[in-house]
Amino acid sequence: MKRVLAVASECVPLVKTGGLADVTGALPRAMAGTGWGVRTLIPGYRPVLAQAAKATEALSLGAFFGGPARILVLRHAGLDLLVLDAPHLFDRDGSPYLDAQGNDWADNDLRFAALCAAAARIAGGALDDWVPQVLHLHDWQAGLVPEYLAAQGTSLPVVMTIHNIAFHGLTTDDRIAALGLDPARFLPDGYEYYGHVSALKAGLVGADRITTVSPTYARELTTPEFGMGLDGMIRARQHLLTGILNGIDTDTWNPRKDPHIRRFQTPRGKAPNRKGLRAEFGLPDAPGPLAVVVSRLTAQKGLDLLLDAMPAFTGAGGQLALLGSGDRTLENAWLEAARDSDAVAVRIGYDETLAHRMFAGADAVLVPSRFEPCGLTQLYALRYGAVPVVARTGGLADTVIHANDAALRMGVATGMVHAPDDAAALAAALVDLCHLHASPEIWAHIQANGMRHPVGWEASSAQYGALYDALVS
Ligand code: ADP
Ligand code: GLC
Repeated sequence: MKRVLAVASECVPLVKTGGLADVTGALPRAMAGTGWGVRTLIPGYRPVLAQAAKATEALSLGAFFGGPARILVLRHAGLDLLVLDAPHLFDRDGSPYLDAQGNDWADNDLRFAALCAAAARIAGGALDDWVPQVLHLHDWQAGLVPEYLAAQGTSLPVVMTIHNIAFHGLTTDDRIAALGLDPARFLPDGYEYYGHVSALKAGLVGADRITTVSPTYARELTTPEFGMGLDGMIRARQHLLTGILNGIDTDTWNPRKDPHIRRFQTPRGKAPNRKGLRAEFGLPDAPGPLAVVVSRLTAQKGLDLLLDAMPAFTGAGGQLALLGSGDRTLENAWLEAARDSDAVAVRIGYDETLAHRMFAGADAVLVPSRFEPCGLTQLYALRYGAVPVVARTGGLADTVIHANDAALRMGVATGMVHAPDDAAALAAALVDLCHLHASPEIWAHIQANGMRHPVGWEASSAQYGALYDALVS
């Protein structure tokens, strides 16, 4: 097996706040088929340390970023994990990034700098029996790795994957010494970003190849509209950039085997799940489509636009069940929408098994994002025979085939695609959805197309394999 070290801040099944964890948890297994063995370095958060009985110490790092630290080797759920056990940084209650009050941990810069420095040590050969040939960095939390590699004189090919360019991992320049960075590289060509330290930029500047999680987002990243201030430097590195679509874990997300649902093989088998879902959310039986949203509640996801579009949808006979958490204002606005309408039901929170029941019971899954690097819930929708209704942006545009007349006639439609960032376009799509739903034959056809659509990792893991191969040849 060829050897790649992935570096990430979350990984299913141990710690997840979003799609990044799904990807870092599923991709390693898919890579095995390409001849690449992946080990993934993650922080030793509390739920990770709960597995420590199964782990062995591979390396002591001594005093490391303010406290004792070591690297553990842990085999868990089919994954080869390396865990940065640094209790002073990671052994806390709360989310990977936020404290119990919902604020960023004040030492986030230090926490993920330590992760990067540990990765560099491993890349430099600190583990006797395993030295990677390629480094694969995920998002800003892994972005400082090239800086520490350069500082210790290690040269190894680096792939940097952008899952979401909205998060730069910024900190102030008075932290350069504490983070152990080379002050001479605090430059526009280095890790400096408008007077701040940017971990994401460090990763992009230092990478030999940049990938993002869909071809359309790769193009969008080069534009001021989507590049979030980094589009210029990405344009300058466009020859290094490719978009490789995410897949989903088709074992975990398999309607035939899913232990959380009433299992089914064909769209017809969704009926008992739909009934259960309506009951669970207190929605009345109704002939119209039951749509669901499972999402972080942030501006990215466009769920404020959906609030505006709801009267049109419910007026046309649609119902909505929403599961999400995040922005307090949005949470409250959705709770209020549920109070005002019998056709809207809302759960604020994060609930992985409820999410399975929602995809199983849903007629449609709504993803009206303003931008979406890839998006995974529209892929779960396809797999579970729910019709995705998505904004034409990023990976949403790359994964759903709009049910226009031509696509319906050709028999290829899998869902509905509408103009992004436009509540009126979303409302119109939702009314169209109700009309389509009223034609059982056409509806069943779209569902069947979706369930056949390939959503696994086969094609994309081969693309990552080819990328790694090119870097070591
Ligand atoms: P992002 O990573 O931007 O949040 P993705 O669509 O890539 O978007 O991934 C989101 C992942 O998180 C999916 O697996 C989705 O099912 C899950 N998810 C989001 N919000 C919730 C929630 N409130 N409860 C359960 N799962 C959620
Ligand atoms: C990010 C993006 C999402 C993508 C996920 C996994 O969180 O917002 O679109 O699917 O990463 O790559």
